[in-house]
Amino acid sequence: MAEFIDLRSDTVTRPTAGMREAMATAEVGDDVYGEDPTVAALEAEVAALFGHEAALFAPSGSMANQIALQLVVPPGDELLCDADAHVVTYEIGAAAAYGGISSRTWPAVGADVDPEVVAGMVRPDGYFAVPTRAIAVEQTHNRGGGGVIPLATLRELRRVADGHGLALHCDGARIWHAHVADGVPLAEYGALFDTLSVCLSKGLGAPVGSLVVGSAEKIARARFVRKRMGGGMRQVGILAAAGRYALAHHVERLAEDHAKAARLAEAVAPHGVLATVVRTNIVPLDLTKHPLDAPALAAAARERGLLISVLGPRTARLVTHMDVSDAQIDDAVEILARLLRA
Ligand SMILES: Cc1ncc(COP(=O)(O)O)c(C=O)c1O
Repeated sequence: MAEFIDLRSDTVTRPTAGMREAMATAEVGDDVYGEDPTVAALEAEVAALFGHEAALFAPSGSMANQIALQLVVPPGDELLCDADAHVVTYEIGAAAAYGGISSRTWPAVGADVDPEVVAGMVRPDGYFAVPTRAIAVEQTHNRGGGGVIPLATLRELRRVADGHGLALHCDGARIWHAHVADGVPLAEYGALFDTLSVCLSKGLGAPVGSLVVGSAEKIARARFVRKRMGGGMRQVGILAAAGRYALAHHVERLAEDHAKAARLAEAVAPHGVLATVVRTNIVPLDLTKHPLDAPALAAAARERGLLISVLGPRTARLVTHMDVSDAQIDDAVEILARLLRA
């Protein structure tokens, strides 16, 4: 794929030389026995970053989300989230399949969550209704074009959750991007949630890994749930080392990815296809009013050496990341301008 400019996703990055060196020299042990010092160090570091007691290394963002949801919603009870949330869109029904969790969604509004709407959906304990147990939000919002939920909204949601005795979960696969875009300290986000899943293998450039963050009691249970889901890993310090390296070197540089996304947004906006204001590293395209549909645009871009994601017949997505250079963004801008103009 080296010849392509790959804007499909920020998951396509490859470990840097420095990261590979950190992986090669990592101290390891059997983590199912709790004996991997690099995993333990990563878990302690991430817990501290978010101001929580503990964290658990998991193989993927999906598993981290699903472990967390099983901690806060018992089988048969209800999770509230938005209709475009990753947890109900791209995790293949896992909340229902593994957790027996019933999900109910508010209409897809990306990062523009209205806490009043959420509050109005909460169902109390009772003989007839499915009791609501938790609310999940996504920061930043993937299908919502990398939108950042404002801190004030999150505080309001915390009030809603507290008022109804609910847990609040954050799918924070790209919470680092929100932190860089809005300047909100990670611990300030952390303080608002009962559980978070945070990912090392999206913008941060590690090859694998997410963490569940929460109280010591929750994370002790999370360890059990992870094992049950087949996510117990052995000498996995080799991957935790990549995550530690990513945290040390790749968080603040996300501002560069945001700047690259802003350049792409500026290039496509005059063609009437920018779906929303771009705040972070995702540029969502709405081709409803354009002669090209999403598969046609993607196919034409591919012929010119540019890869983009098709999310629907008229919806496409560009994502910037650390493996795309400024010169490649120049080329992508030119390719997109030419195709969208035609
Ligand atoms: C918002 C969000 N949450 C969770 C995930 C799941 O991560 P993984 O692909 O590691 O399972 C993704 C993946 O792109 C995501 O964008």
